[in-house]
Amino acid sequence: MKFETRVVHAGLRIDPSTGAVAPPIYLSTTFVRDPEGTPLGGYTYIRDSNPNQDQLEAALAPLEGGEAALVFASGMAAGVALLQTLPPGSHVVFPDDAYYGFRGAAEEILPNWGIRSDFVGMEDLGALAAAIRPETRVVWLESPSNPLLKVVDLAAAAGLARRAGALTVVDNTFATPVLQRPLELGGDVVLHSTTKYLGGHSDVQGGALIFARRGEPYDRIQHQRHILGAVSAPFNSWLVLRGVRTLACRVAVQSATALAVARFLEASPAVAAVHYPGLPSHPGHDIARRQMSAFGAMLSLRAAGGREAALRAVSRVRLFTRATSLGGVESLIEHRATTEGPASRTPQDLLRVSIGLEHADDLIADLEQALGPHP
Ligand SMILES: Cc1ncc(COP(=O)(O)O)c(C=O)c1O
Repeated sequence: MKFETRVVHAGLRIDPSTGAVAPPIYLSTTFVRDPEGTPLGGYTYIRDSNPNQDQLEAALAPLEGGEAALVFASGMAAGVALLQTLPPGSHVVFPDDAYYGFRGAAEEILPNWGIRSDFVGMEDLGALAAAIRPETRVVWLESPSNPLLKVVDLAAAAGLARRAGALTVVDNTFATPVLQRPLELGGDVVLHSTTKYLGGHSDVQGGALIFARRGEPYDRIQHQRHILGAVSAPFNSWLVLRGVRTLACRVAVQSATALAVARFLEASPAVAAVHYPGLPSHPGHDIARRQMSAFGAMLSLRAAGGREAALRAVSRVRLFTRATSLGGVESLIEHRATTEGPASRTPQDLLRVSIGLEHADDLIADLEQALGPHP
């Protein structure tokens, strides 16, 4: 069955007691047992598991080509849940422009658990190979990356990790399973901030891990989530699943619009560089063509006039919304270094753009007036 069909039907269960097509939301925190003590419906307590969380997991696993999925309260909770299960003394290799939340976790929190990290430019596979040590347990990949849209050869990087006995974790938030399926390229675990494209409407926070195989580390992470409690609430699970149903058509349109916007920006004298893997000028374009079916709806641009010009452009947008995050139906723009704060490593002339579902002509017109010469 084609992906567009599976995304609509994955994990779909008609409620047997009412026939409801849209899934019910089960808010109950506790579940009844029979006189012998057996849980009647297989559930006992909301932090252990609950029907809406189960339904979302059943939908997500096959969409990424995995055997199992676990959903969490946020993308950060999902990633950190995995890192939390590593034994002290472990080493993790992160991309040098990993989502800044994970850099923060690696620098501020993982050392307290006896876990050390290195950050390398993963587009250079030699640098990745050199960074892997005997105690490396995880190679963390993000492609395209946030916010520089760097592209990593996922199959080659996963091959290096596998040979070293390390787990390959791929943050697939930007690409989504519509465009890229890292488990098919040799990855072991896929991470999503479901707050983004999977939810799709800027109204729910969540995270997911999808595992190529059951067994370890799935079992350990599930057990740890049960104890530590970073579960996905029933309503949040329900909202993410509702978003997933329209994922394929949203991402297809958003991706096509992003390509049109990127082409416009590349030709604009107000723009020094555009980071978008769909442009032949992007250094990772050929790899992206191999491992993605289209290039996604995230891009970043560097203002020709530097930081001040970038800030001026962002202050002038009328249609784009000045806000962080991504993956919703409305187009967003932000001065990324301001969002990331004083520790940011993002260039000061960079604006990050999330393309929504508006018409490309209107978005281009807005960027043109925002970037253009003003009296
Ligand atoms: C690529 C990427 N990964 C992970 C996260 C973290 O997700 P959340 O904000 O849901 O914790 C984000 C958030 O922006 C992200 O952009």
